[in-house]
Amino acid sequence: MTADPCVLVIFGASGDLTQRKLVPALYELAHDGALPEHFAVVGFARRPLTTDAFRAQLEAAAGRFARSRPLDPAVWARLAAHVEYVAGDYDDPAAYAALAARLADVERRVGTGGNRLYYLSTPPDVFAPIVSQLRDARLLARGDQSPWRRLIVEKPYGPDPASTRALEDLMATVLDERQIFRIDHYLGKETVQNILVFRFGNAIFEPLWNRQHVDHVEITAAETLGVEGRGAFYDATGVLRDIVQNHLLQLLALCTMEPPASFAGEDVRDETARALRALRPIAHADVATDTVRGQYRGYRDEPGVARDSRAATYAGLRVLVDNWRWQGVPFYLRAGKRLAARLTEVAIHFRPVPLCLFRGEEICQRLEPNVLRLRIQPDEGIALRFESKLPGDALDIGGVTMDFSYQRAFEAPSHDAYERLLLDCMRGQGTLFVRRDVVALQWAFAEPILDGWDADPRPISVYEPGSTGPAEARALPARDGRAWSALETSVGGPTLR
Ligand code: BG6
Repeated sequence: MTADPCVLVIFGASGDLTQRKLVPALYELAHDGALPEHFAVVGFARRPLTTDAFRAQLEAAAGRFARSRPLDPAVWARLAAHVEYVAGDYDDPAAYAALAARLADVERRVGTGGNRLYYLSTPPDVFAPIVSQLRDARLLARGDQSPWRRLIVEKPYGPDPASTRALEDLMATVLDERQIFRIDHYLGKETVQNILVFRFGNAIFEPLWNRQHVDHVEITAAETLGVEGRGAFYDATGVLRDIVQNHLLQLLALCTMEPPASFAGEDVRDETARALRALRPIAHADVATDTVRGQYRGYRDEPGVARDSRAATYAGLRVLVDNWRWQGVPFYLRAGKRLAARLTEVAIHFRPVPLCLFRGEEICQRLEPNVLRLRIQPDEGIALRFESKLPGDALDIGGVTMDFSYQRAFEAPSHDAYERLLLDCMRGQGTLFVRRDVVALQWAFAEPILDGWDADPRPISVYEPGSTGPAEARALPARDGRAWSALETSVGGPTLR
């Protein structure tokens, strides 16, 4: 399916996401010849900048963050020739009049046919003012007929359920649901999409994928990065809104959902919603025992962060899923910044064998249950750990790993999620975006935890950068007689012991 000609209008054009993700993604798409022939970008932000200065800023960002470096000057020049900048306040009608005039001019010159894709890449508190101004300036119109208007909303939607609802209601007054593309960039990752292919494209795993065979599941999103110049944004957001409420709950839903009626977007999103509805809410009284939060040492010295900040940069959660398939199986979720390793992974821990048949107390004690690891990043792949006889006369047993690596198997460059997602918006493909009811369900789960944390008078635990998080996090699985996996980036190798 080809991408329609269009102008991409980026609100928050001088921000971090534009530099680190959007521009590199646009460059890669241009490099691969995947952008529509008639395509332009208009950046909109408060900072006064000329179009030339904006182009230079984007070139530096692409040069730093694109996958295919060094930049091909011809590819960049072609893309940059159709990049413009408009400076203005997000709530100033005059700025939107200037934007409308610039859009009309660009459309005439580049021949984009009037299709417009608006990307809200600002902090969430200005989403609603931007949508109101776009509506008042008649820059939005209902319906997906050509020339179309589409809106991309970056997470965190909110910053709380009430403001999310207000924004959703506002968007619904001017746009149909299929014109709204709520981004959770995890859904654009190949390895995240592969969770469903792995589960439902193979006959041998699904029969084991339930409480009869699974002991517990860990979902980890560990980063070595800190807040990287986004201190003010992060301090108002925190790890629960930044990672858990969206990315980790999506991973959880993909792992727990029932087979959808088909792979069509609505069917998958219906099952996502059903999986989220089955999450047992963590009640106020249980927040202290079923969640852990922490802040890395040095966080309060980051630019933009309050000196007495109580924002969490680490979260650990013990989650239960109240349905037939998963009753009683704990899901341990953790996410954090400045940890010992960068690792996003789902680990399915299977139940132990019912009886140890091998002679010798010592061997039986060493016998470990099978673990299936779906490595989302880095070193993308899937690994199954099982027991094997060690070579030699005597019967001895050791853990080994069957390891599938994307890199080795396909030798294909792994595309950034934003490349796929931007292209899907230009094609009008909503499958990998988040539906309104799903966002509401994610908030319904996250809000009591945020409230519980706000009400907790105890000082927030501090953890050392480069560690595995606050010491209290160990208690979450330990309470059930279990432990977190090490934050290792590779389970390759012949043995884990
Ligand atoms: C973003 C968060 O959604 O995801 C960032 O806002 C985080 O704080 C990033 O660093 C992690 O994304 P990825 O693709 O590197 O796992």
